[in-house]
Amino acid sequence: MALLSCATNKTGTVSMPNSIATITTIDDLRKTVCAWRSAGEKITLVPTMGALHDGHLSLVKLAGKTGDRTVVTIFVNPAQFAPHEDFDSYPREHEKDLELLAALDVDLVFMPPRVEVYKQDFSTHVTVEGLSEGLCGASRPHFFGGVATVVAKLLNQCRPDVAIFGEKDYQQLLVIRRMARDLDMNVEILGGPIIRETDGLAMSSRNAYLTSVEREKAPLLHQTISAIAKALANGKPLDPALKDGCKSLGNSGFDVDYLEVRNADTLALIEGPVHEPARVFVAAMLGKTRLIDNVAVTDAEK
Ligand code: PAJ
Repeated sequence: MALLSCATNKTGTVSMPNSIATITTIDDLRKTVCAWRSAGEKITLVPTMGALHDGHLSLVKLAGKTGDRTVVTIFVNPAQFAPHEDFDSYPREHEKDLELLAALDVDLVFMPPRVEVYKQDFSTHVTVEGLSEGLCGASRPHFFGGVATVVAKLLNQCRPDVAIFGEKDYQQLLVIRRMARDLDMNVEILGGPIIRETDGLAMSSRNAYLTSVEREKAPLLHQTISAIAKALANGKPLDPALKDGCKSLGNSGFDVDYLEVRNADTLALIEGPVHEPARVFVAAMLGKTRLIDNVAVTDAEK
């Protein structure tokens, strides 16, 4: 599939040496996508906040297999950060991101400035009740409202046939899927598997915040939830598995926010024996970095 020529879009298009097309206005996005849709092409959207790594790129590759045209968005969404969080320091590496995307089958990168997304008197917010409330929603109450609002906007702006999100942010994936269903958005929400470093640490743009000592400890998060998943898959009781996990993370300097087992479809808390599709979820601070991860109980033996 050929990359778009920058010459086809005069307004809001930035020319890159490798000729990947980037667009900054909703108007240009709509015009381009509309032409594809009229030609009967299937459009897949991959929303990101940039600072791309192999986790993001795996979703872009999946998009290439799902549809005819792939649109990637890069937008650090202020609405999903609380005032005390890392919006200002969140890594912004646009040049490197565009180089990575240019090497893949990407047709368009949408990189709107903040004012294009949030007009000064912006006053509409999307709330997905229930699914947004536990896990990350408990300690970051602003988060899923900010995510749902921006993703609803991106879906309206692009109107893709398919949008892809990573299982790394499993709760986010379910929240977005529910929002799309509840608001009758004509889009299929697909999940992509978690991509990990060789030592098991789930890839994340925030891993760049870790000091070298913290980076060495970080894989313990995945080891811990994998051990719990394995114990549960082998019929061991839940309570001691969670207590042991919390203890070993605490001893290694993690400040655990949650370590829980939940139903993989509804996110209902599981407190007894596991007889349903389940996942182990964890969030913990390691120094100043918040890390999250999850694993399916049935994946435990892999
Ligand atoms: P961001 O953190 O940039 O992630 C963009 C997408 O990449 C999300 O769907 C996320 O789940 C996925 N992803 C991140 N790390 C991954 C990994 N190791 N393996 C697989 N997929 C991974 O998530 C967001 O941005 C934002 O909340 C967004 C949805 C763009 C809304 O602002």
